[in-house]
Amino acid sequence: MRFDSVRKEFPVRGTGTSLVALADLTLDVAPGELVTLVGPSGCGKSTLLDLVTGLSEPTSGRILLDGRPVTGPGLDRGIVFQQYALLPWRTAQANVELGLEARRLPKAQRRRIAREHLELVGLSGFADRYPHELSGGMKQRVAIARSLAFDPEVLLMDEPFAALDAQTRETLQDELLRIWRATGKTIVFITHGIEEAVYLGQRVVVLTPRPGRVQAVLDVDLPGRGEPGQDLRAHPTFVALRHRVWDALHDARAEGGVR
Ligand SMILES: Nc1ncnc2c1ncn2[C@@H]1O[C@H](COP(=O)(O)OP(=O)(O)OP(=O)(O)O)[C@@H](O)[C@H]1O
Ligand SMILES: [Mg+2]
Repeated sequence: MRFDSVRKEFPVRGTGTSLVALADLTLDVAPGELVTLVGPSGCGKSTLLDLVTGLSEPTSGRILLDGRPVTGPGLDRGIVFQQYALLPWRTAQANVELGLEARRLPKAQRRRIAREHLELVGLSGFADRYPHELSGGMKQRVAIARSLAFDPEVLLMDEPFAALDAQTRETLQDELLRIWRATGKTIVFITHGIEEAVYLGQRVVVLTPRPGRVQAVLDVDLPGRGEPGQDLRAHPTFVALRHRVWDALHDARAEGGVR
């Protein structure tokens, strides 16, 4: 996936001026990579995802997927939002089948694929539950299963664990790493949590305050990441990386004042 000098402006109603949400954002994401994007509130993170999903278009610049410009929504991209976005009148199983209906698969095949993906996210016994019968963490698992079930090339996640308590969040972070290894998907994960960015990302992309552009890209090499029984967040390498990301965000803020 390639972001090529992406710029996005929004008209400000009644003023004739516009707000620049993203300016000249350039970034390459390799197939199978898990990249985290971290940046302050309002720097254009969700705007960037809207552009990747094809829900809106860049004012200038391009977004390429497999060398082809994104021109609209497609089943090659799956999204998981911060809010659960499940249909309350459908069971977990039926929510996961949703994307498969768009793929026009026969019913039996839809059932099977949905069941496999509920299993993948650790919810085998919960297929017949409705969203209100599930915890927040379980709902996000269903949302992840639904996004993966139709087999997108890229999984886009916009602060998917932000509404969860700290322990559930850590569990789901490990689950996501396991799922990523099992599926080999390309994942773009947006967060404003520094620790989350370092824990999950093979690379951490630090964005500037609005207008968002790339401030820094850090490679993360954390052996043992996602393995049970390790308090990796206390490891000196983790702490040092966390601090480097903090520094980059801090620098971006300081520089933002003079732009
Ligand atoms: N449809 C829109 N029309 C006008 N302005 C918009 C629109 N969408 C976003 N914006 C503006 O663009 C800027 C970036 O918003 P965006 O939602 O992308 O931020 P964000 O980085 O996702 O923030 P957060 O971390 O709080 O979710 C904000 O100033 C916002 O007000
Ligand atoms: Mg957002």
